[in-house]
Amino acid sequence: MICELKKIEKKYNKGEEVIPLRDINLEAQSGDFIVIEGPSGTGKSTLLYVIGSLLKSDAGDLIINGRNTAELSEAELTDMRAREIGFVFQDSNMIQALTLKENLEFAERTGKGRKGYESKAEEYLRKLGLDDRADYLPYQLSGGQKRRAMVARALINSPKLILADEPTNDLDEKWAQKVIDLLKDECRKGAAVIMVTHNDKWLDDATKKYSLSDGILKSI
Ligand SMILES: Nc1ncnc2c1ncn2[C@@H]1O[C@H](COP(=O)(O)OP(=O)(O)OP(=O)(O)O)[C@@H](O)[C@H]1O
Ligand SMILES: [Mg+2]
Repeated sequence: MICELKKIEKKYNKGEEVIPLRDINLEAQSGDFIVIEGPSGTGKSTLLYVIGSLLKSDAGDLIINGRNTAELSEAELTDMRAREIGFVFQDSNMIQALTLKENLEFAERTGKGRKGYESKAEEYLRKLGLDDRADYLPYQLSGGQKRRAMVARALINSPKLILADEPTNDLDEKWAQKVIDLLKDECRKGAAVIMVTHNDKWLDDATKKYSLSDGILKSI
């Protein structure tokens, strides 16, 4: 099992209490392409942040690659994120002072260590149609190019767990399909993908489908 969530709960307290996750149970195995849909504001991004250990849940257990994340130190969590998890964020969070290629190389260095590997930055730039944008800074990229850059960064270390938050936003049909195909390729190679989206079109591609509402995942 790559990832397991048991009775996960997450609340926000900002004046009125918001409980996006009440009782989330989910299992992601090697080869799974899990698609979770739900309307805006239901907690899809919150769920991915919790799975990626960027946000701590208030209750429940999160087990990644056999380790209960509650028992890991901050340093161990950071290391796990860099090596084992690829995250396509809903909002671009590339390092603004680095070019696109340098952003990818930075992700590789943090995920694979300093040496002893061959950089795949050029290969991933090519796969995502960004080879002619390698030396651009993030602000010089279009919305769709930024989205593709984040997909490249999430996949470059071949992580076992890929968390994709609306990875097809800002993309035309051709590139949206290409991104889904790349995610499915990773599943075939043994990764588990958890993707959240408003677009129910992608549910057909899923091995497991859920909708998130009232803090609960319902199998659909
Ligand atoms: N840091 C925060 N503090 C307080 N409330 C928050 C915080 N982050 C998110 N929320 C609230 O939690 C709810 C879920 O937000 P989340 O971003 O997870 O939704 P989402 O399903 O990803 O929405 P969208 O489809 O629009 O991206 C929203 O109502 C939001 O206002
Ligand atoms: Mg969101």
